[in-house]
Amino acid sequence: MSSESLRSHFQIFEQNKSSKSMHQFGEIFIEALTSYLGNLKIPGRDIFGNFQRGPLFAQVDQIAEIQNAMHEVLCHPSTQEAQTYAENAFKAFLKKDKTDVGVLKFFNGWNETHKTTSLVSAKIIMRLSADALSVSAERRAGYHNVMAHMHEVAKDDFGLGHKGHDGMYDYMTAAFGAPDWVESQYKVDACELFSAFLYATGVAEHKSPMNSIEHKQSIMDAMMVSIASELWNGREYNFLAQHIEKKLLSFNPLLSSNVQDLRNAKGYVLGHAGEVENKHGLHALAAAQTYGRTVDLRFEVDRLKEIMLDYNQRVGKAFNSLHVALTSTG
Ligand SMILES: [Fe+2]
Ligand SMILES: [Fe+2]
Repeated sequence: MSSESLRSHFQIFEQNKSSKSMHQFGEIFIEALTSYLGNLKIPGRDIFGNFQRGPLFAQVDQIAEIQNAMHEVLCHPSTQEAQTYAENAFKAFLKKDKTDVGVLKFFNGWNETHKTTSLVSAKIIMRLSADALSVSAERRAGYHNVMAHMHEVAKDDFGLGHKGHDGMYDYMTAAFGAPDWVESQYKVDACELFSAFLYATGVAEHKSPMNSIEHKQSIMDAMMVSIASELWNGREYNFLAQHIEKKLLSFNPLLSSNVQDLRNAKGYVLGHAGEVENKHGLHALAAAQTYGRTVDLRFEVDRLKEIMLDYNQRVGKAFNSLHVALTSTG
């Protein structure tokens, strides 16, 4: 981390001693990893009114090694730098007292950074569901297990686990008087580049033979990107969740007199905070390992580390541009 970014990192702590940094949220999560994984399961499913397929516990191996790798990634200078960019972008956003071009660009570009569910995770589910038809009977159960874990990664974003999810971003941006963020003039190049990377990840090698190493590795890599993304988002939303209500109220004091409007406005950030995103990341981890066991592809912790670092660097660049957009206007 440069001395400048270190200094600004420090200032965040100084400003609000009780609020946690993205790094601290990461530390808390990684420390509790073993107990989270012990409880991770595909929920049960009602088959008839009085009969249920019980919950299925996730099978995750190499936990100590993964925990070390996650900690190394979290403490790596490029992750630290990316988190500083993100925190600085949020800080610049929180400083705004009116919506200007910077805020509109922030909402547009920030939205691009959250497209992993549709561009990576959902595409993997689609690819696996088509391939399940062509796998041997003994591999089929493995495919279904992988897909069920990936369903747990993606379902909230598709409104299955969070009612009204699709409208949440719009409620928030409307409360900031910024519904125009969708217009193309507010696109941020680095964020477009980032979502293009997500798309390329989701479709990589999709036409290669199903049992080719290239195809198998492309699915494994994409699930590792899902892991990286969900865990990054966990830190990001939890960081912002500490400040969003206060910001909304200072921006839009009328919200204090309408409980439902305030709940809707903060719903996007709070709906993703807590353990929501971390749990998605762990289901992606369980999916990747189950896939590896099913198709005889080793789950390489070093590969996971590499992909997480690469993801953090890429998303960090997007946040750096969001910070620039926010600070170069009004
Ligand atoms: Fe979401
Ligand atoms: Fe998620």
